[in-house]
Amino acid sequence: MSAKGGCAWGAKKSWQTLMIVGAQWGDEGKGKIVDYFAKDVDYVVRYQGGNNAGHTLVVDGEVYKLHLIPSGVLYKNKRIVLGNGMVIDPEVLVSEMDSFTDRGVKLNMLVSDRAHIIFPFHILMDGMIDEYKGKLGAGTTRRGIGPCYADKAERFGIRVVDLLNKEIFREKYNKLFDLKMNTFQRLYRQKVDLNKNEIFNHYWKLGQKLKKYVGDVSVELNEAMDQGKTILFEGAQGTMLDNDHGVYPHTTSSNTIAGGVCTGAGVGPTKIDRVIGVVKAYLSRVGSSPLPSEGNEKEAAHLREKGQEFGTTTGRPRRCGWIDLVQLRHAVRVNGLTSLAITKIDVLGGLKKIPICVNYKLGNKIISNMPASLDIFRKCQPVYKYIPGWQDLTEADFTLIVKKGYNALPINMKKYIKIIEKEIKVPVELISVGPDRKATIKIK
Ligand code: GDP
Ligand code: IMO
Ligand code: MG
Repeated sequence: MSAKGGCAWGAKKSWQTLMIVGAQWGDEGKGKIVDYFAKDVDYVVRYQGGNNAGHTLVVDGEVYKLHLIPSGVLYKNKRIVLGNGMVIDPEVLVSEMDSFTDRGVKLNMLVSDRAHIIFPFHILMDGMIDEYKGKLGAGTTRRGIGPCYADKAERFGIRVVDLLNKEIFREKYNKLFDLKMNTFQRLYRQKVDLNKNEIFNHYWKLGQKLKKYVGDVSVELNEAMDQGKTILFEGAQGTMLDNDHGVYPHTTSSNTIAGGVCTGAGVGPTKIDRVIGVVKAYLSRVGSSPLPSEGNEKEAAHLREKGQEFGTTTGRPRRCGWIDLVQLRHAVRVNGLTSLAITKIDVLGGLKKIPICVNYKLGNKIISNMPASLDIFRKCQPVYKYIPGWQDLTEADFTLIVKKGYNALPINMKKYIKIIEKEIKVPVELISVGPDRKATIKIK
């Protein structure tokens, strides 16, 4: 497909590269939105994170949960790419690949030779470190993400390319394994049961399974762009979890924001045409951190049940609350968002009034930008504006509305959307009203 071709929503494409990023705390519905746009592109590329991500797609009632494989996988002939900025647990990748090939999906996949590998000791260490941190921890997914990125920064990391060369793999692995065992025993005072040779041999075999997919992501993507091919970059996690611009230290270890694509896929900043921020119509957070607009027990339970807010990766109940415009303004700025996709707005149906957190306050002081200080953030109180709600609608109601288009939405829902647009000064281009691919409304 060339950049000039027509596309699903009728218009001629004026872009070649599109990024989709989470604007909040992850789980905004990125997988669904990526799947929606993936129909019209040649490539779908992940560029950061690992299997801490859990992206759900629902197509004709069938549910797919993805942790490493990009959300374009369900379309035929789409090239799916795992970029160098990712940390890959090869065990998880191979089993995810098998789950798709078992369903008859043919994988047209490229895995970066420069991505880093997660080992069992990273996973063990993740839990120990997070527990040690106590109140300063993020409540990680325990998938070894942080310790693997730490080794990358320390330049101890083992990359995909290393897995394919036994001599180099052995040389690097021996150093890393011995260091980790020392750290477990001396620093953490923990005895761990890991068999050095067994892990080596197992990972060597996993490497051999991945071998035919491995290549240079930056070279292929840049060549593809030169040929006029279209690329969709799929963000994982969300802006508030970005390790530089999120609520540090309650973050993940990668750059989840749009800028992460340049380092994470080897694509220059001049090559990105559009950045869509995915925004859940309310707030959810899995893990630990202050959360100024978290609902009270009753409100949170209502949103959790109605929105089915349970982690795709860990199954943990998600904390829930109200949309936070301080955080969204921050997301607009640090990602350079060009439009928004609002998801799960169906979940807000049936409420008498809906709170929107427009600012924070600290004593008499109004705070409208995200503070860097954890001390200030812990003390911030939400300033709410209330808007009247709308009736609860069934799936059948939404099916009709989707056919008729945006104007058929309840008037107060449209007001809610307009307030968000006005406050954060970015147009909303997509509304999602259910988990299924079809339950999506394009705003003209
Ligand atoms: P991601 O990590 O951003 O891809 O999001 P997750 O897949 O972890 O969580 C989003 C959940 O909401 C999934 O279970 C989706 O199927 C579901 N979902 C997505 N969009 C909508 C929507 O508009 N309405 C409802 N009710 N559910 C949705
Ligand atoms: P998707 O892509 C929601 C959270 C964890 C924890 C913090 C750090 O599905 O939106 P980590 O394991 O990354 O070191 O954990 O980040 N977290 C997510 N929360 N959605 C995600 O991914 C997440 N990935 C990590 O709960 O607070
Ligand atoms: Mg998720």
